[in-house]
Amino acid sequence: MLFKQVYQYIVGKIERNEWQAGEKLPSIRLLAEELGVHRLTVFKAYQLLKENGKALVKEKSGYYVKDAQQSCHALDPDLEAAPPTVLGEFKNNLSEIQAVPVAYQFSQALIDPNLLPNLFLSEYVKKVFDIYPKLMGSYSPVQGDIELRELLCRYIAHKHKAQLKLNEILITSGATQAIDLIARLYIRPLDAILVERPTYSGALDVFRIHGARLIPVEISIDGYDLEQVEALMKQHRPRFFYMNPTFHNPTGYTVPSAQRKLLVELAERYRCILVEDDAFHEMYFDTPPPPPLFTYDTEGWVLYIRSFSKYVAPGLRICAIICRQSVMGPLVTVKSLADNGTPLVNQKIFLHYFQSDRMQQHLKKLRIALQVRRDIMEAELHERTNWEWVRPKGGLNLWLKLPDTFPVETLLQACFQHSISFVPGTICDPLQQMKPWIRLNYSFINEEKLREGIRKLTDISRQFEA
Ligand SMILES: Cc1ncc(COP(=O)(O)O)c(C=O)c1O
Repeated sequence: MLFKQVYQYIVGKIERNEWQAGEKLPSIRLLAEELGVHRLTVFKAYQLLKENGKALVKEKSGYYVKDAQQSCHALDPDLEAAPPTVLGEFKNNLSEIQAVPVAYQFSQALIDPNLLPNLFLSEYVKKVFDIYPKLMGSYSPVQGDIELRELLCRYIAHKHKAQLKLNEILITSGATQAIDLIARLYIRPLDAILVERPTYSGALDVFRIHGARLIPVEISIDGYDLEQVEALMKQHRPRFFYMNPTFHNPTGYTVPSAQRKLLVELAERYRCILVEDDAFHEMYFDTPPPPPLFTYDTEGWVLYIRSFSKYVAPGLRICAIICRQSVMGPLVTVKSLADNGTPLVNQKIFLHYFQSDRMQQHLKKLRIALQVRRDIMEAELHERTNWEWVRPKGGLNLWLKLPDTFPVETLLQACFQHSISFVPGTICDPLQQMKPWIRLNYSFINEEKLREGIRKLTDISRQFEA
């Protein structure tokens, strides 16, 4: 709710002593204008400040910051005994759906564990303990294991012809943590950020928790409308643009290379960081995708998140943030505050497995297996529905448009009853309006179950057809 964001924004100012005890708060009209919100929204936030003892009203004068000690004394003794309450609303829409135990799992954008070379991986686990007998007794450097960062420097140089320094890489526990760390660093309540519409719902929920104002940028098969991007950068002065331009989640689209360079130029011109989330780069079927945006960046406007957790070994949760040293300092600090470093064991296992020939063979086989599953899902849907989608050339999902008035939320509840889950489009939409859309993942369950599951899902959906 917007007024709670305004509330958080003011509390932040008070806590940072930018607005001090006894000082008059801006008038409702002024603050509403400044933040681009309705006056009623600011009024509700001021009321909440008053209720929580953070502001007081002086008649015919306005609202004032309350002295922290005053507000302490003002506490009702009964209130002091009340259980602690959390501020704001905490929600992870995707994980709530994924937490429902089902036999036909179409909501997890993960790879079927049976597609990973599990025996081979466990040999590596043993090997790593032979090489580093004291592994369990050590923390990793906060920024990440040095050997692993050296390997990733070589990998990025080979793959993308980009030369990195060791301290331009930070190892995180999955892209999930990378997104959170970046949000902690850049977002204060009510800051504008650009996000694709639709986008990865986990990221939206992180940004919401930090109080961001989400400004949507439409993504299509042709990428973005760069005039729209420029106008939004001009109008909102966003802190960053969070994007997933390669085999985008949920649509599977890839932003064409011609736009990539222009986007970096726009970022420079409007001083808007691009947070490039590249979780599916290696998950292509026919041709590799264009180089990441960060390879066009000479001035440090791109923060590049490269997760390996989708295809190498999801359980290890290894991801890298690549960025300039000026940003790296504060990032390493927030990482140290979050967990003091990603587990060293995971990094070492990843290090040795990632550079093995077996890993390369695995990747080739994996691409074929994923393509087969995509084809099965498409064939079943073609035969049984009139739903529309664009065939993804990589990634793990189909993004489907159902008939306009289709009650997707009711379908989801009915599917849960039959042990099936999928992702409703609304949670991928920063405006929460993409009602007739759904995301179906084709990589997590085996081929037989995939066929069965789609048949069941489409049978259930028939009851809801107009
Ligand atoms: C675009 C995108 N970013 C980040 C993540 C999370 O990745 P990780 O498992 O590395 O935390 C996902 C997972 O589906 C994703 O699709």
